[in-house]
Amino acid sequence: MLLSVDSLDVSYGAIKALHGVSLHIDRGEIVTLIGANGAGKTTLLRTISGLLRPTKGCVKWHGECLPKQVGKDGDIHYRPAHEIVRLGVSHVPEGRQVFASLTVLENLRLGAYQRTDDITADLDRCFTLFPVLAERRSQRSGTLSGGEQQMLAIGRALMQKPQLLLLDEPSLGLAPLVVRKIFQIIREINEQGTTIFLVEQNAHLALTIAHRAYVLQTGRVIKSDKAQTLLNDPEVKEAYLGG
Ligand SMILES: Nc1ncnc2c1ncn2[C@@H]1O[C@H](COP(=O)(O)OP(=O)(O)OP(=O)(O)O)[C@@H](O)[C@H]1O
Ligand SMILES: [Mg+2]
Repeated sequence: MLLSVDSLDVSYGAIKALHGVSLHIDRGEIVTLIGANGAGKTTLLRTISGLLRPTKGCVKWHGECLPKQVGKDGDIHYRPAHEIVRLGVSHVPEGRQVFASLTVLENLRLGAYQRTDDITADLDRCFTLFPVLAERRSQRSGTLSGGEQQMLAIGRALMQKPQLLLLDEPSLGLAPLVVRKIFQIIREINEQGTTIFLVEQNAHLALTIAHRAYVLQTGRVIKSDKAQTLLNDPEVKEAYLGG
């Protein structure tokens, strides 16, 4: 098991956003988490990445508690987000969040800022996966289209050579054709050996490419199964696939 989330509670002040969420991701899988607006999908990804602290429960990476580590003083400290990235978990945030005033190439290089080895092969890989990024390598990222920015955000995350890629709504605000292309590439990235945790409101597409899926409703996992099974589940069809 690559990652597991065990009975996780996360709150914003007095408001609890996640209630006892448990799930797991095995090496090589595409696992999707589907759920409506406000279900807590982003909250879960931000907790896995160390950007939010759980009030209860644990995120485990290769069986060890991810957010916490024992410091030199023997006390337990929270692991900062950049260390979680270095351990092999890269997060593509909701809304892409590329560095708008930097070029495509600069954004990709920043994705690898914690590496000290040669990144040429990984830049080449990004440019092969996303040829449009190669054509536009010197363009300021803020002037890219939404789809191109999404590709750049994924490419930037790949530059750290993650074992696990967290994707927060890559389809958001993009035309169907662009979304299909991006999902094809997500599948390709997975076939090349990267495990993927895909958070999506576009349940149909997410269930089509995923191996397994979880359904999150108001902070609770209400269903989990093979993606194909959930595609044919009457309740899922009714609530998330337009009947
Ligand atoms: N910074 C915050 N402060 C207070 N409440 C928050 C904060 N961020 C999120 N929430 C609340 O937590 C709940 C879960 O939000 P979250 O963003 O995780 O949902 P989501 O499933 O990602 O939704 P969407 O599909 O719209 O992106 C919502 O009720 C939201 O209002
Ligand atoms: Mg969200």
